Amino acid sequence: MTREHPKGEVTGDSEGIGDGTTPVTDGGTVEDVALDPWGSSTVSDYRKLFEQFGIEEFDEILDEVPDPHYLMRRGVIFGHRDYRPVLEAMRNDEPFAALSGFMPTGDPHIGHKLVFDEIIWHQKQGGEAYALIADLEAHSARGLSWDEIDEHAKSYILSLLALGFDPEDGELYRQSTNREVQDLAFELGIEANFSEFAAIYDFGGETDVSHMQSVVTQMADILYPQLEDPKPTVIPVGPDQDPHVRFARDLAARVSYFGVTEAYASFEAAPDERELIAEAYETLTERNPEETIRCVDAAELLESEREPSEDDVEATTLDSAITMLNEAGKEPLRPRTRIVDRNATEAAFEALIEAIEGEKRVYEAHIDAFDLNRKEAEQIAREVAIENGGYGFLPPSSIYHRFMTGLTGGKMSSSIPASHISLLDDPETGYDKVKSATTGGRETAEKQRELGGKADECPVYELYAYLLADDDDEFAKEVYEECVGGERLCGGCKEQAAELMTEFLEDHQEKREQWEEKLGELDIELESDRR
Ligand code: TRP
Ligand code: SF4
Repeated sequence: MTREHPKGEVTGDSEGIGDGTTPVTDGGTVEDVALDPWGSSTVSDYRKLFEQFGIEEFDEILDEVPDPHYLMRRGVIFGHRDYRPVLEAMRNDEPFAALSGFMPTGDPHIGHKLVFDEIIWHQKQGGEAYALIADLEAHSARGLSWDEIDEHAKSYILSLLALGFDPEDGELYRQSTNREVQDLAFELGIEANFSEFAAIYDFGGETDVSHMQSVVTQMADILYPQLEDPKPTVIPVGPDQDPHVRFARDLAARVSYFGVTEAYASFEAAPDERELIAEAYETLTERNPEETIRCVDAAELLESEREPSEDDVEATTLDSAITMLNEAGKEPLRPRTRIVDRNATEAAFEALIEAIEGEKRVYEAHIDAFDLNRKEAEQIAREVAIENGGYGFLPPSSIYHRFMTGLTGGKMSSSIPASHISLLDDPETGYDKVKSATTGGRETAEKQRELGGKADECPVYELYAYLLADDDDEFAKEVYEECVGGERLCGGCKEQAAELMTEFLEDHQEKREQWEEKLGELDIELESDRR
């Protein structure tokens, strides 16, 4: 299924949902895009995230998702970072994991439900599922007391279970009681320094140390599913968490015992130099398929046949590639997979030498393998790392969902009760909140019939698309089309939404109660000893 999105001017906030005709709104109010994990979570223009931060569009991989969740089909999940390895594992019945975390700062609300649903969906698709309570972060970054944290933590867990998380088959934990996470956080902290914290999170001299510690703890959360057994892992979060994801990807590579790259000769070339050398290699093998190609031949080719570039950077790259090739002289030019020793022990490096099949050449801090492709080499390197007590992380992936608009317009915020619906709200309160929500309706019924409502700017429509229509795309589309077509008036539309919300809350709270009775059997500590 492919979908067309209205791309257009910067303020055009609509994107297709379902079949491409029924959009959901952005709901952002902030002008510029700043991804701040502890700041206000609104984004005015999701497209900027693609350009500025290299988040990729979810649409482009929707076809590759087996039986996609409605949040994916409707464009609520709008972006991702490197989600393909997870999808590949999902399709091939190979191990993968999904993990997300929740700061227990208040009651769980319908915005959190998105993430609960995402974790649960991955679990149903055969993934290992993890949900954690970020109590250390809530305590240090938000100043919550341990009593408050205990109360909220339990509530998040109950909602997650009520929505379908299978605790037998998944893991729930609190940061404060997970020793492995804390140990991993300490190790990751060895590779992270203050300048990076300043650059990524804008931390300064006044930032307290525990807040910094909660960052490495989150890095450890993100890599925890791979501790014993490296596997593709997805972190479903809001885009405000993207700085964390990028940093975790970086640290994953830094702490791993080995790294894998490609090379053409014994020397180390930068990626853009390697590209030039690869081109020269291709040309020469095409011209003389039988002959051994030597470094000097490639140098000559680059010198004689590459147009000197106007661009300084390109010119320097060409120069340095030629110099390297000339220095290597008669050495044969041959593509190979290179495994670099980053943090390995001597024993692990020795074990790696043993483990590499086929022709290989061993150097001081790397091994060149001639009969392994990159994927095979990565696999072997990870296995050897784990067997020798080291780390072999794959860079974690992420998927990003849109923030819901507040019912009162503006942003949905835990601190403004009327702006959101708590999963603990009385069904009647939920009903009332929906009934008094802002709409995208016109001033009069007459105008509405004539011009149609503005479903794209309507928080009530969003409730249908994100939650109330559940898996029923036809229904979501019907609401949208009736609204923009002028057949639907806000009074009746809100009444219907309010009733559905009442039903949802009743059902959800009943399930929470059932779980409450079984909570004692679960392997999670609900009361903290901390003070
Ligand atoms: N920082 C996240 C938040 O503010 C919570 C969190 C902690 C988290 N560890 C995580 C999210 C790991 C995803 C993955 O909500
Ligand atoms: Fe929103 Fe419904 Fe009114 Fe349309 S009819 S603007 S969807 S409340």
